[in-house]
Amino acid sequence: MPILTFVKAGVSVEFTDAIDLIEIEDIIMFGCKSGNCGTCAIKVINGAENLTRKTAREDRLFELIKENDSSMRLACQCKAFGDVVLSEVN
Ligand code: FES
Repeated sequence: MPILTFVKAGVSVEFTDAIDLIEIEDIIMFGCKSGNCGTCAIKVINGAENLTRKTAREDRLFELIKENDSSMRLACQCKAFGDVVLSEVN
């Protein structure tokens, strides 16, 4: 089974089908849940290829806040379908 690992929280979550990261509210802090506030920003440490592609909302927000680190994602915009290691940034 694929595993999501959250480094900062020291937590791993096993899942069977693709999972929306927005479902993991007890580990990741969310605000707007629509790609506008940046509260759910996460850093992908490993397994970026196992996340859905970056959305236009993510591109827009990271451009707005001048964040150029390509490993940054918005959890509310991501779905995982394989092993991923993440770190929260907030
Ligand atoms: S919760 Fe606001 S951008 Fe994800």
